[in-house]
Amino acid sequence: MTLPHGVERRAFDGTESLATQGEPVYGESVEDGWRQWVPERSKLGAMLELGVDTGLAGGETVLYLGAASGTTVSHVADFAGPTYAVEFAARPTRDLLDVAADRHRLFPLLKDARAPETYAHVVEPVDVIVQDVATRGQADVALANHRFLQDDGRLIMAVKARSEDVTRDPDDVFADVTDQLETEYEILESRRLEPFHDDHLAVIACPR
Ligand SMILES: C[S@@+](CC[C@H](N)C(=O)[O-])C[C@H]1O[C@@H](n2cnc3c(N)ncnc32)[C@H](O)[C@@H]1O
Repeated sequence: MTLPHGVERRAFDGTESLATQGEPVYGESVEDGWRQWVPERSKLGAMLELGVDTGLAGGETVLYLGAASGTTVSHVADFAGPTYAVEFAARPTRDLLDVAADRHRLFPLLKDARAPETYAHVVEPVDVIVQDVATRGQADVALANHRFLQDDGRLIMAVKARSEDVTRDPDDVFADVTDQLETEYEILESRRLEPFHDDHLAVIACPR
């Protein structure tokens, strides 16, 4: 699996790790201008670390759903093109604004990813949707935002089983979510994110 242009393996304290070039955000190590991308803190980082074929090449236009304080989306904006970062909680969005101050390609949006019509006037068609919303109805969110994806675009999604139902077997939750996604997406790859994130499934898909 090739890493996106702008993501490299670098040594941090003698240990190899993924890294991007940019201003530090969450206390990560920095060596020679490269910031360590910590897979335990980032589902997309874990996917790249585990060799998931995300299809990312670097330079893509990205719609990132569930940006929180910007841990992962800051790395994305370091190697991608215009990156729209949707987050509906005000407190993390304040931190996200600070992260965006150093990144001219990162555009924070204080919006609900379940209501894409509220940001449809701002977001252009994108090459990639990255989704990491810890909420019930994760498939609904991916389906609602399908409209922004170019025909040859990719959905890169982290599904958190416990956000759907804490009492169910995660594999049953994942089966339901992927079944629902398949109404509008073709699933290219899926795999669990252990040992970095328990009870999470990575899903890579393209529009049907
Ligand atoms: C697991 S955290 C995201 C972590 C982040 N992706 C990262 O790696 O840096 C999930 C985030 O999704 C946000 N979220 C949940 N439901 C949402 C919705 N409907 N619209 C926008 N954001 C949502 C939560 O407020 C939370 O900040």
